[in-house]
Amino acid sequence: MTTIIVTGAAGFIGSTVCRYLRSNNLARVVGIDKMSYAATRASLASLKDDPDFRLAEIDICNGAAVTEILNAESPDGIMHLAAETHVDRSIDHPGDFLQNNIVGTYALLEMARHYLAVLPADKQQAFRFLHVSTDEVYGSLGAEGRFTEDTPYAPNSPYAASKASADHLVRAWHKTFGLPVVISNCSNNYGPFQFPEKLIPLCIMKALGGQKLPIYGQGLNVRDWLFVEDHAEALVQIFMRGRVGEKYNVGGAAEWRNIDVIQELCKILDEALPDSPCRPHNNLITFVADRPGHDERYAMDFSKLNRELGWQPRTSLPDGLRKTVAWYLANTAWCEEIRQRKYGGERLGQLRLVGKD
Ligand SMILES: NC(=O)c1ccc[n+]([C@@H]2O[C@H](COP(=O)([O-])OP(=O)(O)OC[C@H]3O[C@@H](n4cnc5c(N)ncnc54)[C@H](O)[C@@H]3O)[C@@H](O)[C@H]2O)c1
Repeated sequence: MTTIIVTGAAGFIGSTVCRYLRSNNLARVVGIDKMSYAATRASLASLKDDPDFRLAEIDICNGAAVTEILNAESPDGIMHLAAETHVDRSIDHPGDFLQNNIVGTYALLEMARHYLAVLPADKQQAFRFLHVSTDEVYGSLGAEGRFTEDTPYAPNSPYAASKASADHLVRAWHKTFGLPVVISNCSNNYGPFQFPEKLIPLCIMKALGGQKLPIYGQGLNVRDWLFVEDHAEALVQIFMRGRVGEKYNVGGAAEWRNIDVIQELCKILDEALPDSPCRPHNNLITFVADRPGHDERYAMDFSKLNRELGWQPRTSLPDGLRKTVAWYLANTAWCEEIRQRKYGGERLGQLRLVGKD
């Protein structure tokens, strides 16, 4: 059976990809994760007794450790998802994003290149390096248009800039060293196991505690929402069948304003919790100071992926939100542990000007 290394395996999307690969018996999977604050072992608990899955606690910046695992596991490809991912944290601690997302990707590319160089020709030919990136590299849209694979890069946050840099490195390692890479750029994901610092799980966690639901600015920013299980399917298709050296956009065909997403979420919570004293949950919505440099609108044109590989999202936003709410209600202990030990829901990413309080 094919062996795939998945970096960022204990994160939100990485763990979904691992579960998808294993539940469909598509490959033996070796997960790599440095187990940052965003990683949870619980997201991989269903694979605990699976002989064709293992998780290695490794930082991708550690070239020696990566080389050791490449030589030991002899993978047929790498799906690279490891990254620092929260825009607000990139405003507070940009250096972490440069280190993990740029230096980390560079280290992984180098180790992959050296590993590949000594493989037999047929294995070299079949090898793939999928780099998972974001729509945020393209910057912000106005009211019209969608990002295509040819949209020029114009990242606005430290997070987006670090991912854009990593995309350029991946492209360069293909053009210069012939590394067989594919890049995917996707829109905002949501679904089970998402760390509750991102909008949807943060609002679910706060709503369950009867706390205010903070909406940045007027909530008019538009995102193209992609259910994480649809994304995992797209990534596996791109990894297995995408053309080497190409980029593929992945979107959810679900452009919603943040305020409308949270209104819909509140409606679903009202239905799911008929006895809650917090009903109607939309009374908890509160508008707070906007994020610095907040991009106005993202929308993905994923027609290339649809045309070449036949992929399209299966899950509408209301259906995906219903599944997500059901998962969080059934897994309150997971959230509670994070709330107590890692992140209590406080505001992140507010500019602190030098010389001011
Ligand atoms: N979540 C989204 O909406 C979204 C959208 C577009 C693109 N992406 C991209 O998808 C990928 C996965 O995102 P996610 O939402 O699952 O993020 P996440 O924050 O939930 O998980 C990232 C994982 O990477 C691990 N990691 C970070 N630095 C590492 C390092 N140096 N070595 C090893 N492991 C490391 C973390 O421990 C964590 O488990 C990222 O590359 C992200 O940029 C995410």
